[in-house]
Amino acid sequence: MTQASAENEGRGISPVEEPESLFERFPWLYAICRDHLFRDDTKRISSALWPVGVPAKGSSLSELGCGPAFYARHLAARFGHLRVTGVDRSGRQLRRARTHALARRLSNCTFEQGDVRALAWPTGSVDALVASRLFMVLSEPERAVAEMYRVLKPGGRCFIAEPRSALRASVPLQAMRLLATLADFGGERGRSYREPGGVSVLDVGGFRSLIKTQPWSAARHWRDTWYQYALCEKGPERDGT
Ligand SMILES: C[S@@+](CC[C@H](N)C(=O)[O-])C[C@H]1O[C@@H](n2cnc3c(N)ncnc32)[C@H](O)[C@@H]1O
Repeated sequence: MTQASAENEGRGISPVEEPESLFERFPWLYAICRDHLFRDDTKRISSALWPVGVPAKGSSLSELGCGPAFYARHLAARFGHLRVTGVDRSGRQLRRARTHALARRLSNCTFEQGDVRALAWPTGSVDALVASRLFMVLSEPERAVAEMYRVLKPGGRCFIAEPRSALRASVPLQAMRLLATLADFGGERGRSYREPGGVSVLDVGGFRSLIKTQPWSAARHWRDTWYQYALCEKGPERDGT
């Protein structure tokens, strides 16, 4: 049973089976693309989230829609005192991420299965968030941004990185889809998967509008040829809020 159908059953709604996710079916293929094809923004993320150079002792960071947890693992390795959590819907992506974290003896890096549009964490409980290449595959991204705002502590920051080229960003999904077609050959005809054939990347205006759906005290956007970025800060708590 999928997580969504389990949730529905708990509410007395008859379970509706969602199609399988390609990220769940071929976690190793996405991990290869992540490790060898995509940009490594670890340094950019570190200096944006912690301009003083290091996170405060005991602070926490979560990578949302972490997949193989490239950033969760790299940041946990870089800052041994940071408490890092990777969250993803796909159990198999998380299993892979966990194996890699164990192999590197990262005792400060844990993983949770969940939906970034409905996080299980209390309001104001996380110091920093990273969301990389997430919105391009996510339906209802504004719900995820609302959750990001909610779970951040006052003064907390989030770093968002989204690709700008749909063609390049679609490469892993196209490769996974091709593999699925080959693997399903002779079996279930026309089997459908959760992800569409390609991804639709946000244009500059759409990216800004998405960020603006929450009342950040500060938000900076910037971009280069291949990526657009946002660094957002949640303001200090006001009386009565
Ligand atoms: C394109 S991958 C990005 C992985 C990683 N952040 C990176 O930088 O490569 C998108 C990930 O988001 C996950 N995902 C999609 N929808 C999700 C949701 N609603 N909640 C949690 N994770 C989700 C997928 O399982 C997949 O691992």
